[in-house]
Amino acid sequence: MSDQKSNFYSGLQQNLEQLREQGLYKPERVLASRQGSEVVSEDGRTLINMCANNYLGLSGQEWVAQASIDATEKYGYGLSSVRFICGTQTVHKQLEQAISKFLGTEDTILYAAAFDANGGVFEPLFDENDAIISDALNHASIIDGIRLCKAARFRYAHNDMADLEQQLQAAADKRHKIIVTDGVFSMDGTIAQLDQIVALADKYGALVMIDECHASGFMGKTGRGTHEHHNVVGKIDIITGTLGKALGGAMGGFTSGRKEVIEMLRQKSRPYLFSNTLAPSIAGASLAVLERLSSSTELRDRLHENTAYFRKEIERLGFTIKPGTHPVVPVMLFDAPVAQKFAARMYELGVLLSGFFYPVVPMGQARVRVQLSAAHTREQLDTVLKAFEQAGRELGLLKN
Ligand SMILES: Cc1ncc(COP(=O)(O)O)c(C=O)c1O
Repeated sequence: MSDQKSNFYSGLQQNLEQLREQGLYKPERVLASRQGSEVVSEDGRTLINMCANNYLGLSGQEWVAQASIDATEKYGYGLSSVRFICGTQTVHKQLEQAISKFLGTEDTILYAAAFDANGGVFEPLFDENDAIISDALNHASIIDGIRLCKAARFRYAHNDMADLEQQLQAAADKRHKIIVTDGVFSMDGTIAQLDQIVALADKYGALVMIDECHASGFMGKTGRGTHEHHNVVGKIDIITGTLGKALGGAMGGFTSGRKEVIEMLRQKSRPYLFSNTLAPSIAGASLAVLERLSSSTELRDRLHENTAYFRKEIERLGFTIKPGTHPVVPVMLFDAPVAQKFAARMYELGVLLSGFFYPVVPMGQARVRVQLSAAHTREQLDTVLKAFEQAGRELGLLKN
């Protein structure tokens, strides 16, 4: 091997070693079962799963799997094409219509992932004459999407409406302005203040875009999302979201909004034009999921009951959580090594959850992040709470 090539590989080895030393290396946890409120690990251990984005508990469900099998039988395995050449089937059009109806928008375009939806939304719609005003903690895919666009970038301090207003003023001379925010921020379960954001957008003539990956299917009275939660349905210009979390859990994403926006994305959005069609199995299963969620709020209601129960009981045990109502519940341990030890002990006690520490969260804000699901039974939650109590006592963390 040439010296230059060998330097490249040894450089990578050093960087990987550095990640391990800094505690930033992300090993994969291998499951030997379906996704669910209970999973089986590679080594045969049964664990209660408290860290999936499986908010409505649909990922491992029989009827969802069957809907995907039915769609595969009818439409085949795949399309071997992008959408506009020969990759659009009736099931894709039906799913786009169903998402639009569910969200209260005019039209929807599907992508292979929400990462692609966010990556492909800005560049076709905005240019150097325009401004994108983005929350500082927006998802990586939004940040990447903005980088691919020539519009001027303005960043406002996370969830800070006074700073958002200042940025809107700073962008006053731009032709079009769009405020962009996660509907729900997944690290803290913080819900964006969409009522205030819409009011500011109206005042300064800006558009609003929200990423609903941690909201579609369960936020708001009937699960439509953060716009329903904040009573601003019909006032959001662009909604992006995923089919890979609450809405079934496989993969796939979408952008939804006014028909001329979606029409332009179909013409110009690069991840749509230059990437394969969403597999029909996923389109068919997602359609079945949306039909179910449109006819009943049972799963959404159970998720919120589980969330309220867990939030109340974990505080009663003496743990500190970030206040809120979202099924993401950050249990604050503050110290990084403590969070690591705690997650490891919980694993031994049969509970799967993840620890987060600097630089993923600010220094001194280490935590384990619990994510509730409609699939969790009360018995499972009680087992998890007992394990929290035991690990908390062993590590001397409990105030009570
Ligand atoms: C806020 C947010 N946006 C976008 C994505 C990307 O979603 P997908 O997995 O569909 O690419 C995620 C997933 O982690 C997310 O949390």
